[in-house]
Amino acid sequence: MNTRIITIDGPAGAGKTTVSRLLSQRLGCVHVDTGALYRGVAFEIRQQKIDWENDAALEEFLKDLDLNFVIEKKALALMSSGRNITNFIRTPDITMLASSSSAKPQVRAALLDIQRNIAKTKDAVFEGRDMGTVVFPDAAYKFFLFADLNVRAARRYDEMPDEKKDIRRVQKQMEMRDDKDSRRKSAPLKPAEDAIKIDSSFLTIEQVVERMIGIIEKP
Ligand code: DC
Repeated sequence: MNTRIITIDGPAGAGKTTVSRLLSQRLGCVHVDTGALYRGVAFEIRQQKIDWENDAALEEFLKDLDLNFVIEKKALALMSSGRNITNFIRTPDITMLASSSSAKPQVRAALLDIQRNIAKTKDAVFEGRDMGTVVFPDAAYKFFLFADLNVRAARRYDEMPDEKKDIRRVQKQMEMRDDKDSRRKSAPLKPAEDAIKIDSSFLTIEQVVERMIGIIEKP
């Protein structure tokens, strides 16, 4: 079966998730947030108290890992061994641990088939860090969405419900995470050579989506 795969990579806060969701709705296909899988790994590492920096312990843990997506209320829910963990993977601790543990090649290898299997049967917009470079090098369209760090931090800050939020802290953590994600040896965050780069610093989400649709639907 030939499916149409579109990839959107980029740093945290560039608008990937909202853009991917809207784009997939416009195209009538699935949206797969691959960051959720790395967050799922981090969540299980915490739950099972795994010493993930120890390669033997990590490999043992990965053998039993059972993550997959199911469609629930028109969105994809992340399941771990049959339990819906979608609502537990967005804490600051899991965010930082997902970034650290995703640098392990064994973790990346364990998630590769899950991602490629979805693409075998469904047209999809895949968002992540290495979609265009590693997971789907032959994707029909590849986008790399980025924005100025100040703009990205301000967006994340505005989304936070907490009264005690601190924009400098948000910015610092984002910078640390981008640095980790970009400097790791295994599948670092970077644009694929044939990716179309879009700077979203001064664009609305709708403008980004329109630009992508214009490229995808160009006769
Ligand atoms: O997109 P996100 O913020 O939910 O991703 C969480 C972490 O997972 C991110 O810091 C790096 C990692 N990640 C990755 O290494 N490769 C992907 N394709 C997606 C996410």
